[in-house]
Amino acid sequence: MSASTSSAKIQDPNEVPVIISLDGVSMRFDNGTTALDHVHLELREGEFVSLLGASGCGKSTALRLIAGLEEPTAGTVKWQVPEPREKGHLLGYVFQEPTLMPWASVFSNVWLPLRLKGVSKVDAEDDVREALELVGLKDHADSKPNELSGGMKMRVSIARALVTRPHVLLLDEPFAALDEITRAKLNDDLLGLWERFGWTIVFVTHSVFEAVYLSSRVVVMAASPGRVATDLPVELPYPRSEKLRLSPDYTHRCGLISDALRTAMSGNQP
Ligand SMILES: Nc1ncnc2c1ncn2[C@@H]1O[C@H](COP(=O)(O)OP(=O)(O)OP(=O)(O)O)[C@@H](O)[C@H]1O
Ligand SMILES: [Mg+2]
Repeated sequence: MSASTSSAKIQDPNEVPVIISLDGVSMRFDNGTTALDHVHLELREGEFVSLLGASGCGKSTALRLIAGLEEPTAGTVKWQVPEPREKGHLLGYVFQEPTLMPWASVFSNVWLPLRLKGVSKVDAEDDVREALELVGLKDHADSKPNELSGGMKMRVSIARALVTRPHVLLLDEPFAALDEITRAKLNDDLLGLWERFGWTIVFVTHSVFEAVYLSSRVVVMAASPGRVATDLPVELPYPRSEKLRLSPDYTHRCGLISDALRTAMSGNQP
């Protein structure tokens, strides 16, 4: 996707097809917790959508339902990807913890999803090396996870998600544990990859600043029960860069979304 294409999508989102829809989705666990209540959400091809909300408002639950890792107790989650691809290649999932195999090399960790699909090491070699190069780790293929920093481990986890060339990428607070400089760098790297490959991204974060910097749209969630409080486009052009963080437009957007989050957290609908 070129930068101009992604900007065009934001200007006229209705022309872009919906590829994932949550229709009246509720999730009630056996212990009585209603993690999500009547959530309606449409995700369009190529969007970068952040789910923002207080701890416990159902963000991770929403991601798991989108991924099909769990079934909702009411409502439906529908995928309508225009060019159907093999199931495993439809989706990449980056969990909050890098969850790497500590005994295996970086190469083997990234190879894992292909290996599980029966792709041999030799056949996976080019794809794994390319994924490592994309995240800036091509010289660390033989390292073990304990030889890497937190940011590098997260890059391995991202490489493992994108080695299958996913159509949709789900990221659950991938940068939460990182220092600010590393986090900003990974924000830029992720945006660069998104613009290059045209993924649809659903990104969970607690950070208003991160959500606004990255996203074409921010969905603010409220808790108890988990629900969508506000759904706001972020009308800032791509490509975005560090300079944006100092601009009045960015600050203004962050203010609006902070207000929406505060209102959602206080239990009132905006
Ligand atoms: N397997 C489960 N069984 C029972 N309750 C659960 C289960 N998974 C999540 N919950 C509850 O559902 C609610 C939403 O949880 P979820 O993990 O989706 O929140 P979250 O928004 O991702 O929070 P955080 O920002 O802390 O990661 C919480 O109240 C949580 O305790
Ligand atoms: Mg969570």
